[in-house]
Amino acid sequence: LREHEEFTKVKNIATIELGRYEIETWYFSPFPPEYNDCLKLYFCEFCLNFMKRKEQLQRHMKKCDLKHPPGDEIYRSGTLSMFELIWPFSYCFFFQIDGKKNKVYGQNLCYLAKLFLDHKTLYYDVDLFLFYILCECDDRGCHMVGYFSKEKHSEESYNLACILTLPPYQRKGYGKFLIAFSYELSKKEGKVGTPERPLSDLGLLSYRGYWTRVLLDILKRHKGNISIKELSDMTAIKAEDILTTLQSLELIQYRKGQHVICADPKVLDRHLKAAGRGGLEVDVSKLIWTPYK
Ligand code: ACO
Ligand code: ZN
Repeated sequence: LREHEEFTKVKNIATIELGRYEIETWYFSPFPPEYNDCLKLYFCEFCLNFMKRKEQLQRHMKKCDLKHPPGDEIYRSGTLSMFELIWPFSYCFFFQIDGKKNKVYGQNLCYLAKLFLDHKTLYYDVDLFLFYILCECDDRGCHMVGYFSKEKHSEESYNLACILTLPPYQRKGYGKFLIAFSYELSKKEGKVGTPERPLSDLGLLSYRGYWTRVLLDILKRHKGNISIKELSDMTAIKAEDILTTLQSLELIQYRKGQHVICADPKVLDRHLKAAGRGGLEVDVSKLIWTPYK
């Protein structure tokens, strides 16, 4: 019932200010009741604390000494960095906002993210998750572009719980970068992974695009037969996701009770042309990370 109420609640905050962007929100997010009367919220782009008035933010910016998300920087390539945040993480903030202390980054990130995610009750169990925050860095600091979260231990082999690219950064390949990153972590863990369901329309489009491109690239290069299991071992993509992707590309035949990949070069070329841009690449040599035990 509680979830249902969440879904059907009317959008409360209409716009947010974050760094140099003013962003229109998409969905309801369960901000604390004292923010119910606000149409606009002002976020500190570094610690993600949010305020009701512009002057409060300006005052805050003078004393906020954060220039990047808390946590470890586990990837840096060019101007792109990834930070990993474990919950509960090693340091907390003690800013005074409307009499409330201890607004923590992970929680703030969830409030912010929910404004763009409709079907998630992402808020309640933040303590079981890892956050991977993607930033574009310049001399002013590291500006959050998007993030994904991941359960610390997933029974269902989920390697991603929630993914978001902030609207000003969408359709530039960051989503595919985040997805690729989640699979690189799975490879390091020696596991296959799949995103948590249900996927949003945009989530599904992005995943289909990613799976399609990765699989077509391998099939194009590979000589001779290859099985779904082998593809799964190479990519960390779950076998079911490989099967549905290849089926939708009509590259699967069912012979003698088995799914067989039929990769006709002409068909591959046609699909590759249609598959669009590859997105931003993850340079694995720049990823410094060991899996959690
Ligand atoms: N219209 C049509 N196709 C789109 C659109 C759009 N508005 N946005 C993305 N796509 C498709 C395209 O195929 C695109 O590839 P292309 O640009 O090469 O054609 C592909 O998805 C991915 O594009 P990216 O630029 O790599 O992805 P982006 O940075 O825009 O992020 C994301 C995608 C994360 C899904 C973003 O749209 C978003 O944050 N949406 C709101 C939150 C959300 O729905 N998250 C997923 C929920 S499901 C889950 O979390 C498990
Ligand atoms: Zn701040």
